[in-house]
Amino acid sequence: MATIGQDIDYACQLLREGKLVAIPTETVYGLAGNGLDEEAVAAIFDAKNRPSFDPMILHTSALEKVQPLIYPIPKKLQILANHFMPGPLSILVRKRDSIPDIVTAGSPKVAIRIPSHPLTLTLLSKLDFPLAAPSANPFGYISPTIPDHVYQQLGDKISYILDGGPCKVGLESTIVDETDGVVTILRKGGVPVEEIEKWVGKVKVKERSSSNPQAPGMLDSHYSPTVPLVIADLSEVMKKYDPQRIGYLSFRELSPDLPKNHQFVLSRSGDLQEAAYHLFSFMRQLDELDLDIIVAQLLPEEGLGRAINDKLRRASQKTHP
Ligand code: TXA
Ligand code: MG
Repeated sequence: MATIGQDIDYACQLLREGKLVAIPTETVYGLAGNGLDEEAVAAIFDAKNRPSFDPMILHTSALEKVQPLIYPIPKKLQILANHFMPGPLSILVRKRDSIPDIVTAGSPKVAIRIPSHPLTLTLLSKLDFPLAAPSANPFGYISPTIPDHVYQQLGDKISYILDGGPCKVGLESTIVDETDGVVTILRKGGVPVEEIEKWVGKVKVKERSSSNPQAPGMLDSHYSPTVPLVIADLSEVMKKYDPQRIGYLSFRELSPDLPKNHQFVLSRSGDLQEAAYHLFSFMRQLDELDLDIIVAQLLPEEGLGRAINDKLRRASQKTHP
């Protein structure tokens, strides 16, 4: 089983040997391996049970370090990089041949990100290769935001979990592409759409689509708990289900009609950042209760609320056998 600790040099050593290490970031925990080593990347796909058409993000401590691996960064993405890196933003850039095709699932573009977690930034600065790191969860399940989440699900598949405490943002990075001068958000995440538009003007936002998994983070049944999750009026669900068997993921308030310990409030003060911080952890806690259904409330469709609602909608898409 994996050990959990804060030994950056040990993590470096394992990564240099081609092994996998779970790393903290401000968004979610990542399952990291040498991004230029095909075998290490293949081991990540394996550990996660992830389909090979789903590309991975490369993590670095500075864009200059990956410069030899990519073509020049498009202008608007460079502006975004200047403002949001390190931070919860990933940019798509054309890759050179030194980045193995397995990383990008054959796409000519690679996603690059500089995470803003101090432990991981130090780790990355000591390495002379970028780290491929998808979220450290089995494919299709909720992303981990504390070391224990990683340990529970992937502990038997990796050697080490670098413990950086709970993830401050709690939502994955926002992924942006620029094609012919047009910026498109491929995945809503920790940097809100509005923040991006402040710097590069109006952008396109790719909405969910199961028929076109071009950015496979766009696959509908992502981030799903095992217990069915629905976005619905609690009163409607109570007509069909025993209130003792319903879990509730509410934005601001408890419901008087359900057991208190089956309910999680994302932010009593209505703070979207706090809601994002709690989201995945509360989804997991609800999933661990013995319930028939989880009812989730949508948040205001603004700022981080857009990304949170996106996750909730996806979680509600899972087809349960
Ligand atoms: O916050 C994050 O981005 C976290 C932390 C660990 O950095 N990572 C993360 O990775 O969420 P992952 O693998 O769970 O999700 C990455 C998604 C892929 O599912 C895919 O949709 C998109 O990023 N992606 C990666 N490379 C891409 C590419 N070359 N073209 C299009 N989409 C890409
Ligand atoms: Mg993921």
